[in-house]
Amino acid sequence: MSGWTVLLHLLLDLLRIVVTLLPAMTANTFAPFLGGGPPVDMGLTRRDGRRFLGDGKTWRGLLGGSICASILGFVLLILLHFLGLSSMENGLWGKFPVSLLIIPSLAFGSLFGDMLGSFVKRALGRPRGAKTPLLDQWDYVIGAFIFILPFYPWWYDSFISGGSWIALLLFLFVAWAAHQVANRIGYAIGVKKEPW
Ligand code: CTP
Ligand code: MG
Repeated sequence: MSGWTVLLHLLLDLLRIVVTLLPAMTANTFAPFLGGGPPVDMGLTRRDGRRFLGDGKTWRGLLGGSICASILGFVLLILLHFLGLSSMENGLWGKFPVSLLIIPSLAFGSLFGDMLGSFVKRALGRPRGAKTPLLDQWDYVIGAFIFILPFYPWWYDSFISGGSWIALLLFLFVAWAAHQVANRIGYAIGVKKEPW
């Protein structure tokens, strides 16, 4: 294979990973539009007086973000099928109808990771919205992967073995960059209080 073919394969594999993980990548983008109301931790504090998650993690953001990102995933599932790019019976999200569980798990797992991140941030004494490099950009990826692992190990396996490790590493960079861009846009249009 020539260098260009290798590069093309790598980019196509990266594209496969991005499209597959779009339900995880977009759940956090929907949350600021839908969030508000009672916080997930119900305002409870730890023994040291710090909040468990803080007011930035609300039920509306969690459920609304999960539902919207899942709907996006279902639309992609149908669209890719009819475009002939990935079959509905056994495609990017595994076999049908398990794919109907995998897509919402990615969406919810991402927001679960976001909450894990907030839990760590609060435990470290950082207030809501404080900039926390690495956690801010990757907590959702970690959450989606952790969440899907115990439930669907067979899908996880096909997801990984189907492609190259270099593409997975590149995805971490794409996830980081997508987070930066999305949050700057969110800040500019006024749905996010901070640009990170
Ligand atoms: N959001 C929400 N519920 C969630 C996640 C996010 O309501 N489960 C909304 C909140 O309005 C939040 C905004 O999306 O302020 C941006 O999310 P994020 O940056 O993750 O929250 P922060 O306010 O920065 O809080 P933290 O420091 O805990 O990350
Ligand atoms: Mg934040």
